[in-house]
Amino acid sequence: MEFHFNRWVRVTGTVVLVLIALYGIVAINVYSSVGQFPTHGPRPVPQIHTLIWPTIGYPELVAPGAVMEAELDAAEVSGPAGTFTAMLTPVRPELTGLTYSLPVSGAVRGRSEHWPVGTAHGGDTVWHLRFAVPAQAVPELYNLSIRADVGGRDFTYSQQHAVSIITPHPGDSFRFITLSDIHVHQPNISSFHNPQSDKGIAPDGTPVFLQRTIDQVNLIRPDFVVLLGDYVMAQRYAGEYLAEFNNFYKELARFQVPVFIAPGNHDQYVNDVDGARVFQENIGPLFYSFDAGASHFTVVNTTEWPYTDRIVMSKFGGLLFFPRKYQGQVLAATDERKPQTYAGQLAWIRDDLVRHEDAANRFMVMHHDPFRPAGKAYAWKNERFGGVITLGGSGVGSTALKTLAARYRVNYCMTGHMHSDYVGYQRWTDRQGATGFINQTMAFFDHGGEKDSYPGYRLWNVQGKNVSGFTYLDGVHSVPLYDGSVLDGETDLNKLDRLALSGSAGADGFSVSSYLGVPMDVEGLIGVFPVQQGKNVSGGRVYFSVPLPGDASRQLLYMRTSASPGQPGPDAATAGQPSVTSVFVH
Ligand SMILES: [Fe+2]
Repeated sequence: MEFHFNRWVRVTGTVVLVLIALYGIVAINVYSSVGQFPTHGPRPVPQIHTLIWPTIGYPELVAPGAVMEAELDAAEVSGPAGTFTAMLTPVRPELTGLTYSLPVSGAVRGRSEHWPVGTAHGGDTVWHLRFAVPAQAVPELYNLSIRADVGGRDFTYSQQHAVSIITPHPGDSFRFITLSDIHVHQPNISSFHNPQSDKGIAPDGTPVFLQRTIDQVNLIRPDFVVLLGDYVMAQRYAGEYLAEFNNFYKELARFQVPVFIAPGNHDQYVNDVDGARVFQENIGPLFYSFDAGASHFTVVNTTEWPYTDRIVMSKFGGLLFFPRKYQGQVLAATDERKPQTYAGQLAWIRDDLVRHEDAANRFMVMHHDPFRPAGKAYAWKNERFGGVITLGGSGVGSTALKTLAARYRVNYCMTGHMHSDYVGYQRWTDRQGATGFINQTMAFFDHGGEKDSYPGYRLWNVQGKNVSGFTYLDGVHSVPLYDGSVLDGETDLNKLDRLALSGSAGADGFSVSSYLGVPMDVEGLIGVFPVQQGKNVSGGRVYFSVPLPGDASRQLLYMRTSASPGQPGPDAATAGQPSVTSVFVH
């Protein structure tokens, strides 16, 4: 018996030692910096240079006849105040030839008002330039160029899609679309740890799925779009970030409406380049705020991890690859429940909300949901694999964001990251209302195959203090981008092919085809017609017309219609019955 007992102890002890050693090897491999991607490769020539606001990801909304502002980095444009001229050229090709040249009406030096301290140009001294927009300016999206006479030499600084001239709608009403988790990625990056579908990705990496998404957005033509983070994948091989980012950036030119962009975790990975830096050199600040109508939007960066935690590492020959941290984090509170103890970005958010107490609505925009589910904030917690490997990073700051939302009466907090829909509410501190935490699905095809969510978007209708329409059919889900998306159950992502909403143009008008189970107001029916046409339109309405530049016989007509509901297909393999709404121009 004694012999057998000793043997049992020896065997068990050996097994335990081997397990400890294996665990150690796994842990060292997973958590050490062995295999981290190099971080000193080339980076693209910055698109944001000298002209630091407005930008493609932080555009300016301005009414005809109002004052347009811009910020030029005063370190680049120094010396005596030069003369400045702004040029606005429409993005829309039909309007080529139309250009507004605006003389400067004011130039003062001061701190940037659009890059908060803690962002790349925070605290920079800038030229605040003011230009008067003509009262007759066509309400459209414009590329901006600013010419500066610097010490007798001419320089031009440009930013595409930077200015949107908007006609304020009656009753302070406007519409916007939120899209999240676009994840433009290279083909063939799928792996055991992180499977990815190549659906909608061309062999050269062109994100065709994003083009089809933008086409639906342009057809609806909301006043603007808000992107909620994660535009790239950037975690399969070194150098992937730039290839994917360039493909994403190219597609931004396809939008015909202004786009406000919030950063996600993938956008800030360090993979050959520091993503947070590339984002700020090409898109805009990591956090900022803007006004639309009488409402205020505060855009938050929920990936406040130090550089070393954002470095992507490839482990076990690519079986595992990830940065140390990818969940939510916002710094810096001494006591998250006490806003007076906040510093850094949190203090800036607090002050921004205080300054906009009187706004019709306060919206918070961020990538990680600090609430879902029921206040537990899963997007801010570690993820565990097999009980051994802990990934993601348990971040701080979710309680602070919930505290700010409750204390300063935030109406809605819109988020992504989880690739599925969720709607939850938290009472305000004064109990006079509640914050809606509206989390939304992805815009790409994720891992393909069966999934309990589908690619979609939310469309928000704002009318004064009244916010509606941000869910589809059941009060929770996003509007599907494809027919056959299943709201409660599994959707076969591989079989999604029929665009839920599509338009086509003919010589005498447009037709809109919709599989959606709700009516959809579309305002992007825009085409060139002879000037004698457009007096009579059936099936829709002309809301704006502009003579074609250099062609007295033709005009550009902007029309809207309400696309009738179609019959949605029950699943991806079974087509529904689309409605067809026709708009004829006589
Ligand atoms: Fe994310």
